[in-house]
Amino acid sequence: MKNGIRKWLFRSVNWLSRRFFASRLSFSHVQAFLFNNSPKKLLNFIKVHHAMRKGAETVHCYPYLFVMEVTNVCNLKCPFCLTGKGISGGRDVRHMKFEEAKKILDQVGDYLYFLQVYTWGEPLLNKDIIKIIEYAKQKNIYVMLSTNATAMTPAYNKRLLDSGIDYMMVAIDGGSRETYEIYRRGGDYDKVMANVRDLLAQRREHASGKPFVEWQFIVFRHNEHELEATERMAYEMGINKFTPLPAYVEDENWAATDPRYRTDLGNPERLYNCDRPWSHLNVRADGGVAPCCYTFFKKDDFGNIDDGSFMEIWNNDHFRTSRRIIARTRKKLPLEKSDIACYDCMRTGIRPSFIEVAQEVQLDTQPARQARESS
Ligand SMILES: C[S@@+](CC[C@H](N)C(=O)[O-])C[C@H]1O[C@@H](n2cnc3c(N)ncnc32)[C@H](O)[C@@H]1O
Ligand code: SF4
Repeated sequence: MKNGIRKWLFRSVNWLSRRFFASRLSFSHVQAFLFNNSPKKLLNFIKVHHAMRKGAETVHCYPYLFVMEVTNVCNLKCPFCLTGKGISGGRDVRHMKFEEAKKILDQVGDYLYFLQVYTWGEPLLNKDIIKIIEYAKQKNIYVMLSTNATAMTPAYNKRLLDSGIDYMMVAIDGGSRETYEIYRRGGDYDKVMANVRDLLAQRREHASGKPFVEWQFIVFRHNEHELEATERMAYEMGINKFTPLPAYVEDENWAATDPRYRTDLGNPERLYNCDRPWSHLNVRADGGVAPCCYTFFKKDDFGNIDDGSFMEIWNNDHFRTSRRIIARTRKKLPLEKSDIACYDCMRTGIRPSFIEVAQEVQLDTQPARQARESS
């Protein structure tokens, strides 16, 4: 596909997502809705959006998007990633087992359009990941992951292609060994590039033609000059989508100079329209049920997947409080003080763990919540 048409198509999906959906919708979400649907899923989807618009605290519908952290172990040391910094956030550092993943998928799988098999950590280090993907595919769920592409080998790539995985994002922040290895500490640029080229070569021979492969390039000051050339190289290799992503950093030594690739951590988009406590399930490698993918620390969890039946967890005090906070914020009603992460997120416009991440890593100060409360 011509680059211009490709860019126009991706921009249109972004525009639609900002116009009609609370969370950022990607090309993969659209594919999931089109190709992994069923009457049961559609009915549940309608119920979720109805509950969200009403601001219902207790719900009788299921999430349709599942963010499953299959591991919080990583082999790299990216300096702005808490996992890369060796911080556990109060959790056991472990791989989720197939049986644990299956138990959750058996409860919610019939309603899911989309399964994202990573949050923090490197998903391809979990030896059960192929079984987990295969199981989700049996349930007609769209499966995607983001990987640092270090653990891939020709044999592993074949298993990934055979598993039926729909979408893989490869995180390579540079178009040369010199720039790549500044952020992806411990990664080997030549090896990672060979792994991705092999995946694309095997995909050309594979009957399914999947997965869709996105190259995510986090833009820093040290690599922004390589963007254009890397994008050209990516499309020549057979990558389907090249995405320059602003880095979550505010440190002037690291942040890009180009304003298009700078993140305003204090101004998240469409905050008041957050739909996650109605539509997204987030389970961490230790079984913790998190409010969304932006929290990291165990203290911000809403419960544990073993706390009871799925509906008991989904309607526990934390989830109900979170939905109430969001609904009241939308109506501009005063908020009751609460310890849960959504309270700070709705009140200040700053997702709390995000700032904690930024501050812990860059400034090495007390967590942001404390700082804000005393100000
Ligand atoms: C924590 S990683 C886990 C998945 C996998 N290990 C990886 O790196 O792709 C989740 C996502 O965060 C991205 N990421 C890492 N550091 C980032 C930063 N400073 N700013 C924005 N995104 C970042 C990664 O590229 C990845 O897509
Ligand atoms: S590869 Fe991913 S999980 Fe690992 S340190 Fe880097 S960003 Fe974090």
